Formats: sequence, structure tokens, C-alpha cells
Amino acid sequence: MTDRIKNFLASRRHEGPILVVDLDVVRENYGAFAKALPDTRVFYAVKANPQPEVLRLLADLGSCFDCASVAEIRQVLSAGATADRISFGNTIKKERDVAEAYRLGVDLFAVDCREEVEKISRAAPGARVFCRILCDGAGAEWPLSRKFGCVPEMAVDVLEHAHRLGLTAHGVSFHVGSQQRDPAMWDGALASASAIFRECAERGIHLAMVNLGGGFPTRYLKEIPGVKSYGAAIFEALRKHFGNRLPETIIEPGRGMVGNAGMIQAEVVLISKKSDAVDETRWVYLDIGKFGGLAETMDEAIRYPIRTAHDGAEKVPCVLAGPTCDSADVLYEKEPYLLPVSLEIGDLVLIEATGAYTTTYSAAGFNGFPPLETVVI
Ligand SMILES: Cc1ncc(COP(=O)(O)O)c(C=O)c1O
Repeated sequence: MTDRIKNFLASRRHEGPILVVDLDVVRENYGAFAKALPDTRVFYAVKANPQPEVLRLLADLGSCFDCASVAEIRQVLSAGATADRISFGNTIKKERDVAEAYRLGVDLFAVDCREEVEKISRAAPGARVFCRILCDGAGAEWPLSRKFGCVPEMAVDVLEHAHRLGLTAHGVSFHVGSQQRDPAMWDGALASASAIFRECAERGIHLAMVNLGGGFPTRYLKEIPGVKSYGAAIFEALRKHFGNRLPETIIEPGRGMVGNAGMIQAEVVLISKKSDAVDETRWVYLDIGKFGGLAETMDEAIRYPIRTAHDGAEKVPCVLAGPTCDSADVLYEKEPYLLPVSLEIGDLVLIEATGAYTTTYSAAGFNGFPPLETVVI
């Protein structure tokens, strides 16, 4: 926890769960990406945390932006970035949204099939498109496989189709899976990308750009390699597969940009057991759960570090759950979470590294609970 977050929380009475985001950490993370991948442009994945202060800071630092919707595009424009710094990176778009993005000045779009190319050729004539290829997400704690991308062989046809329809076939993208803890995972995807570049060149189409996606991790409970290791592994893989003709590259970090900048303070609402048996597991219910912003605990994928005022005391395995009347609102049960035996109802807990993929997942009013409050400092 940063001193700034600590001081802020010390001065606040806990009413309900709150996410505090420290902009100094976001600034440091942006600097670390720029340093680790000096020839690569950063397109911040807005979906990770679209808080206006975060977008304004990144716009001022010179970042570009990966947007998933017209609403995100508008948020980025309001933050002061120009449309030429925006990519509409969602492969699933309504044609009228493509038209609106184009009207706003955006001319870079993701596709992964001919049907999407056709929409773009009608709604954004002459725009640049990049084709996303499938990645199995191996090694990632939050894989983004299957739903997005096409097989590399098909990407060549998709890009050729774009070219024939008057679009600029600009490049290839992939996402190695979010919270990807293995920097070597970019190698296989870059091998596919370079094969697509070669095949397109044989068809007279000269691609320019590889979008290396996101996937850069945040430190949760397990150790992660530093961003420098990712930069080195990616550069090595680029050299291996593209030789001296390196393409233009971009990255789209979301989690790695804002994850460790945020911390949620929550309250223990109830601690109970399901029977009086001595070895019965304790259930700890917080005032935040899956519908309050901790959606990435789905399948217990992301395990957040949790700190309490009792750290150092003996710990016991607990089932950790949220406050709503929905039995899906259980955070950790398959692998119970170790919490201090002295933890009590009414205690505050700190859920670390929650700057990414929390606020925007929090439901507006499920069970009457308000969306997660956010403060940016
Ligand atoms: C197209 C695209 N780019 C980038 C990201 C950000 O990924 P990460 O948070 O793993 O950096 C995502 C995440 O869903 C995405 O869909």
C-alpha cells in the first residue's frame, strides 16, 4: 500500500467499500512500459479502469488508447486525447458504432472475420484494420481465448478481403491472456504474426503493425516477472521472427497499468459457521463481493492479497463471500482463504492490487448495494 493511500484511508470513515487509486503508481507503470519497450507505442486498455483522472493522466503522458465501445472512445476524447491516438479494439461492433467512431475521427479497427471487415468497409471507408488471431491463453490466470480472433491461416484471407474492399490492411493482433505470468508466451504468437506478414506480402499486401495486446500482470499473491523481462522476451521474439525488418508494434496494457495502483477497503459484515463442529470452516462475509467489483474471483481465477489489522496472528482457512443474497457471490471456497483467527465482525480489510477490472464490473444496484465508490488521489 502506498503512503498516499494509507493517509487517505486513515482520514476516512468507512461507510461502504471504496477503491482508492494512486495516480503516482499509474505514472510509474506508464514509465516502466515506455522504458521496457522503447520502440512500442502504448495503447492503454480503457476497460481496465476508465476513471477520468486515470485517462487524463495517461493522455498527458502521451499514451494512446484501446477502446471497447463508443462510450469509451468518448471518455478518452473528453480526457484530451485526439482520435488518432485511439484504436477501436473490440472485434464485436455494431455497424452504427463503427460509423460513429469513424465520425469522431477514429480510423483504426480490430477485426477477426470477413463479416466485420464488411461492416467497416461500409461504415469507415478507407480505415486501417488489424486482424486478431486466436491465442490459447496458456499460462494466463484470466485467459481470453476462443471468443476473439481467428486461426492465422484465415487472418490472411480476412486481411486480403479488407484490402480488396478499399481498407488498409494494417496488421495483426493477439492477446496472450490476461495476467500472463510467462513472458515467453509472446513467442508463438509472434511466429504466427510473421507468417501472416509473409503470406500477405506474397499477395501484394504489405502489413505494417503488430499489436502485442495486453497480458502484463499485476502482483497478486504470486510473484510475477518485472515488466523489463517482458520487454526483453518480446524484443527477442520479434528479432527471431521478423529479423531486421521489425514491424511497428503497439501494446495494450490494462491490468499491468492500473492493477497495483488501486486498493479496496472493505468491512467484515459477518463471520459464522454452518455447524457447531469444532473443525467446521469459518465463513467470512465482506461488504463487497462478485457483484460489487470482485468479478474476477469467478472460478477463483484472481486471488487478491488481503490485509487485516491482525496480520501476524494465527491464520485459519476461511470461505470468503460477498454480501448479496446470491449464492454465486462466493469469492474463495474451492481453495479456502487463510485469514487471521482473530478477525472480527466490523473489522476493515484491505484488498490489494484492485485497480483493474473492479469498478466497471460492479453492478448498479444489485440487491440495493450501490456501485463501488472510487476515489483517485
Ligand atoms: C483487446 C484487448 N486489449 C487489451 C486488453 C487488456 O488486457 P490486460 O488487462 O491483460 O493487459 C484486453 C482485455 O480484455 C483486451 O480485450
